[in-house]
Amino acid sequence: MAIRTIFPTQIFHSSLKPSQNLVNSLLSDTLKIAEIDEVGLEWSEERYFGGYTSYSSYNRLQEFSSSFADLENLIDQAVEDYVEALGYDIEEGTLKMSNCWVNIMPTGTHHSGHIHPNSILSGTFYLQMPEDSPGIKFEDPRLIMQMNTPAKSDDLPEEMQSFVSINAKDGDLVLFESYLRHEVPANQSEDDRISISFNYEYS
Ligand code: NI
Repeated sequence: MAIRTIFPTQIFHSSLKPSQNLVNSLLSDTLKIAEIDEVGLEWSEERYFGGYTSYSSYNRLQEFSSSFADLENLIDQAVEDYVEALGYDIEEGTLKMSNCWVNIMPTGTHHSGHIHPNSILSGTFYLQMPEDSPGIKFEDPRLIMQMNTPAKSDDLPEEMQSFVSINAKDGDLVLFESYLRHEVPANQSEDDRISISFNYEYS
């Protein structure tokens, strides 16, 4: 068949291979922040049911803690590879981590579909992923423009599906373009799922 595939959607998914020391200090910093962040706790109570996120409060953690600054350095290297895969022709130093925040999701907490406006790249580093806790679920950005489109078969390859879920393990990093709508389904595990999310801006 004379079919050409155009406009691919590229997602980066790999282990960041963080040292155990870095993981330990990120975990202890995260738990400390969750204890002292009154503004964030209040915000989370209204908008992040059952869980805690520092999205609205401590959201530049790469400037606030040395362990988060170390994490930023590791993520920067992965972002470099990702930018190359995406084919962006940009000068060094023009793409920077702008925000970085923590998320703690106990059993049942979920995060419904959203995009990250005003950023170019976004992503999540998975700090503590209990078994049965969800990774991230992406949605085909063209869905919103489709009307009266038939449903797709169940047995299509991943790149043809309208929704794609990625399972993530401890230490994994997922990067995506910020326009791509995504959600985190409810945590089915009895243990807390802990992740660190961030945006990159271009200037
Ligand atoms: Ni998000």
